[in-house]
Amino acid sequence: MKNLGILLSGRGSNFVAIADSIAAGRIPDARIAVVISNRADALGLETARHRGLTALAIPSKGKTREEHDREVVTALHEHKVDLVCLAGYMRLLSPWFVQQFPARILNIHPSLLPAFPGLEAQQQAFAYGVRVSGCTVHLVDEELDHGAIIVQKTVPVLDTDDEHTLADRILEQEHIAYAEAIKIVLEGKFEIVGRRMVKSQKSEVELKK
Ligand code: GAR
Repeated sequence: MKNLGILLSGRGSNFVAIADSIAAGRIPDARIAVVISNRADALGLETARHRGLTALAIPSKGKTREEHDREVVTALHEHKVDLVCLAGYMRLLSPWFVQQFPARILNIHPSLLPAFPGLEAQQQAFAYGVRVSGCTVHLVDEELDHGAIIVQKTVPVLDTDDEHTLADRILEQEHIAYAEAIKIVLEGKFEIVGRRMVKSQKSEVELKK
């Protein structure tokens, strides 16, 4: 049984989708060990408590990035987390944090990376006028929205869309993509070659430069 640690800052719909995917058997042999937010008022934390999960607020205010990250990592270790899932966690992780979980941190981003990294990716894509956007689940490395891509889903931009309807349709695909990516990473039958995820029959992740 693998332990997931979810980090979120807001609504938490990706967290709920992960929890539902575990319950439905789409992510086998996994459980959510802890949900952590840098914001005490995050709706996702409340949802986690309602679902009977361990939900912790670890506020970042008044702390350096590394001080805050050390508290979060301590909590993740206390709950024996194998895979960290960033689910709308609106903070950049310090390099030190990333090194504590090598190839064991996933992030979801609402665009087809490397297009539109950073904040409000759906709005950026809509304003740019792309005809296709989507979402990306990737391993987290030391750079923002940058690590090896595990799953991407495309979403066409319709003539009738505005930035909200586009964001809503991207979100539906996020919920599907995240479960698929977690399953792939937990199974571990892939290698990272350069920045490419290459499926293999090996049971352990190998990192090749
Ligand atoms: C999601 O759209 C997620 O992709 C995005 O924040 C939203 C969180 O929603 N993340 C980023 O933009 C990270 N760069 P949720 O709280 O309902 O899961």
